[in-house]
Amino acid sequence: MLPRRGSVDAPLRVAVLISGGGSGLASIIKYEGKGNRAYKTVLVLSDSEEAPGLRHGLSNGIKTIGLTVPRLEGKKESRLAHERTVHSRLVENHVELVVLAGYMRILTPSFVGHWKGRLLNIHPSLLPKYPGAHAHRDALLDQAKVSGCTVHLVDEGVDSGPILAQSEVPVHRSDSVDDLQNRIKLVEHDLYPRIIDEYSTDPKSFIHRLVN
Ligand code: GRF
Repeated sequence: MLPRRGSVDAPLRVAVLISGGGSGLASIIKYEGKGNRAYKTVLVLSDSEEAPGLRHGLSNGIKTIGLTVPRLEGKKESRLAHERTVHSRLVENHVELVVLAGYMRILTPSFVGHWKGRLLNIHPSLLPKYPGAHAHRDALLDQAKVSGCTVHLVDEGVDSGPILAQSEVPVHRSDSVDDLQNRIKLVEHDLYPRIIDEYSTDPKSFIHRLVN
């Protein structure tokens, strides 16, 4: 199910899910503050109370929750219990669009099925190249000349959902993983907020444009 059309008067209620430093989250909040947007970040959620990026939510007066994964008998049970709590927090806060920004957990098909069309991710490569957790390392090992980032809708696969937008950067022969990551983050911080806003403005025509 796609979200409704957001507008300046009635922006889409967005939750941003993070695991780490949250530089992407910061760019989303900053863009929101700079103009009339069709989305509003109403919830920041992370899978740990320690995630440094939580500070961006807190310092901007956004409801911010660190949800540490519970320690249950089995790993699977812990994962499912955590995901159920995440889902409940999203529903309780009337979230309409879920934005993954460096969220390092694999979501179950049941969660994805519920939020499909309302679940975006950014991946630090030009998908379908270099999916998975080691995109920069894989690009360097492959001696790629270009890399970049991809904003996509999340489906049940790993970094495999429909692509909404991409930005390219050059890869230099002398690059370390950190060099490449930093260069890609710069374009991520420009692209992701813009695409979130465009998608929020009119999800149906955004998707229509992709398939035509
Ligand atoms: C970004 O490069 C994003 O593409 C990837 O994880 C990184 C998150 O960085 N999925 P940050 O926590 O937003 O700084």
